[in-house]
Amino acid sequence: MKIVVIGGTGLIGSKLANKLRDHKQEAVAAAPNTGVNTLTGEGLAEALKDASVVVDVSNSPSWEDAAVLKFFETSTRNLLSYEGAAGVGHHVALSVVGTDRLSESGYFRAKIAQEKLIKESSIPYSIVHATQFFEFLKGLADISMVGDKVHLPPVLFQPMAADDVASGVARIAVGTPVNGIIEIAGPEQFRVDELVRRRLASLQDSREIVADPNALYSGAKLSERTLVPEKDARLGETSFETWLTQPGAQIPSAPQPAGVAVVNREKESHQKAS
Ligand SMILES: NC(=O)c1ccc[n+]([C@@H]2O[C@H](COP(=O)([O-])OP(=O)(O)OC[C@H]3O[C@@H](n4cnc5c(N)ncnc54)[C@H](OP(=O)(O)O)[C@@H]3O)[C@@H](O)[C@H]2O)c1
Repeated sequence: MKIVVIGGTGLIGSKLANKLRDHKQEAVAAAPNTGVNTLTGEGLAEALKDASVVVDVSNSPSWEDAAVLKFFETSTRNLLSYEGAAGVGHHVALSVVGTDRLSESGYFRAKIAQEKLIKESSIPYSIVHATQFFEFLKGLADISMVGDKVHLPPVLFQPMAADDVASGVARIAVGTPVNGIIEIAGPEQFRVDELVRRRLASLQDSREIVADPNALYSGAKLSERTLVPEKDARLGETSFETWLTQPGAQIPSAPQPAGVAVVNREKESHQKAS
C-alpha cells in the first residue's frame, strides 16, 4: 500500500515512515521541505496519487491561539478534500488523550476543530489519541517557567516513548478504519511534576520544579485524571527508565513554539486577593 505521512520529517513522522517501511509498505514522507504543504495545497495532488492511506502527524509551527487554529483547520480541510479527489480510503490523524477535556487551551481547541472536520468528512478515519511523549518532558518544563522556576500541576499522566507512538500509529494505519478514537499510552502512570523533575535531573538541568495546583497545561486547568487514558488504551512497552538509557534520551528536545500560556497568573492573583 502507498501510505503518505503528512509531517513525515517530524519527531513521530520520521519514525513512523521507517516503521511502515518495516511493515513492507510504500511510505512517502510529506512536509514543506519535501515539497508538500498542507496549508497551501502545494504538492498534495501529486503526493496523494494512488495513495490508499494518509496519516497526518503534522504540527503547527506556531502554538499561538489563532495561528494554531488556522493551521489545523486549513490543513485538515485541504487534506480531506485532496484525499476525496484521490480516492484515499483511510485518514489517520494523531491527536492527544484528553483533547475533548482541554477546550480552555487554544492549542486543544485547534485539535478539537481538526477532529471535528475528520469526523464530519466522508473519508473513513481513525483518530489516534496518544499521551505526552517522553521526548516532550523537557519542552514541558520550558513552556512552564514562572521566573526561574518550573511550575507544573501535580496531576496524573501516562506518557510514552515516541518510538511506541510511531509503532502504535503504524499498526492502526495498516488496519481497517475504526471511524472513531483509539487511545495509546505508556505502561506507567506518574505525577507530571515528579516525572519532569526526573527528566531534568537526567539532563543535569538544575531548574527547580514547583508542584503548583494552579499551573496550567497549554493554557488549560487540569484535574487529577484529565490526561489519563481509559482502561482499554493500547500500551507501549517502553518504561521511562528504559527510555532514559536509549540514545534519543540524551538529546534535549527542541524548544517548543512560542505562544503557549502556561501558568494562570490571573487566577492565582484573584485567589490571593479573594
Ligand atoms: N508532544 C506531545 O507530547 C504529543 C502528544 C500526543 C500527540 N501529539 C501530536 O503529535 C503530532 C506530531 O507531533 P511531533 O512532535 O512529531 O511534531 P513535529 O516534530 O513538530 O513535526 C511536525 C511536522 O509537521 C510538518 N509540517 C509543518 N507545517 C506543515 C505544512 N504546512 N504542511 C505539511 N507539513 C507541515 C513539519 O515539517 P517541517 O519540519 O518541514 O516544518 C514536521 O514534519 C501533533 O499533531 C501533536 O498534536 C503530541
